[in-house]
Amino acid sequence: MPARLFLSSGDLVADRRFEFARDLRLKGDLVAAANLLEQAVELAPNFPSAWFVLGEIREKIGQRDRAIAAFRQAVCTDAQDRHGAGLHLMRLGAEPLAAMPQVYVRVLFDQYAPRFEAALVDDLGYRSPELLFRAVLLARAAARKPAFFKCAIDLGCGTGLAAAAFAREVDRFIGIDLSPRMIERARATGHYAELEVAEMAEGLRGRREASADLILAADAMVYVADLAPVLHEVARVLVPGGLVAFTVETHGGDGVILGEGLRYAHGAGCVRAAIESAGLKLSLCEDLSARNEDNVPAPGLVVVAAKP
Ligand SMILES: C[S@@+](CC[C@H](N)C(=O)[O-])C[C@H]1O[C@@H](n2cnc3c(N)ncnc32)[C@H](O)[C@@H]1O
Repeated sequence: MPARLFLSSGDLVADRRFEFARDLRLKGDLVAAANLLEQAVELAPNFPSAWFVLGEIREKIGQRDRAIAAFRQAVCTDAQDRHGAGLHLMRLGAEPLAAMPQVYVRVLFDQYAPRFEAALVDDLGYRSPELLFRAVLLARAAARKPAFFKCAIDLGCGTGLAAAAFAREVDRFIGIDLSPRMIERARATGHYAELEVAEMAEGLRGRREASADLILAADAMVYVADLAPVLHEVARVLVPGGLVAFTVETHGGDGVILGEGLRYAHGAGCVRAAIESAGLKLSLCEDLSARNEDNVPAPGLVVVAAKP
């Protein structure tokens, strides 16, 4: 994961305590680190980074309720919730499941951009673009149509790995992503005719009806709790016969949950329901994992749907 976000308290002594606490944490002395962070927030009560790390450490040492209290303070002291403390509150069941704050996603991937590909491809065995490529070829073969596309939109395009996988099959690629730093990397690949910094549903809203024949989202829907609004826009922007292909992480139950890694996992039932409610027709839904988590394939689905 990226280097940790640090938001200074503005108080030199409190900031220094935070640094010491971080060192203690790295050395494994979690109780001493928590004590120092408590001192830091006593000195600077509006110190979101200290509250956030305190929440993480308290959870690690089994103080769930006190962790929740610290995460709540982290949210209160940073209206944009750049650390994503609200997501920890959801994961811990202290708040109902909701959308991910856009600023959190942007900050996360802006920090991640310089080492994204090495971290994802080399360390986590990332394979979403290849899985989508194979799935789209299969869906096209089953429909007896050529796997060639005039205009493709890559939602959550990141550094451009999905466009690289489809480059020979697509005339014109448009990339949409929340993170300007990821977009910069995508631009450098030369694979995209157009790139837009935007939330994916918003970006699609600005596109003409029936203007794309392929829409991809490789490992991006894991940051979207409710798939229905974005799939409605997908259905509007696709030409009849056009395809949408995406990967999600999944779980054995129904509905959507937020996993340990702060990515949503969508049950197969809710993916099918969102596709249906958008007026799309499911072409393929395979149990395939797009990346590893702790060296084990994370349960996932590869989904292709067509606009009738
Ligand atoms: C794990 S990366 C995958 C990037 C790329 N699709 C790939 O296969 O390498 C997820 C990307 O989705 C973007 N993202 C997450 N939520 C988004 C949203 N709601 N709208 C637009 N982009 C989003 C992030 O900024 C990030 O670049």
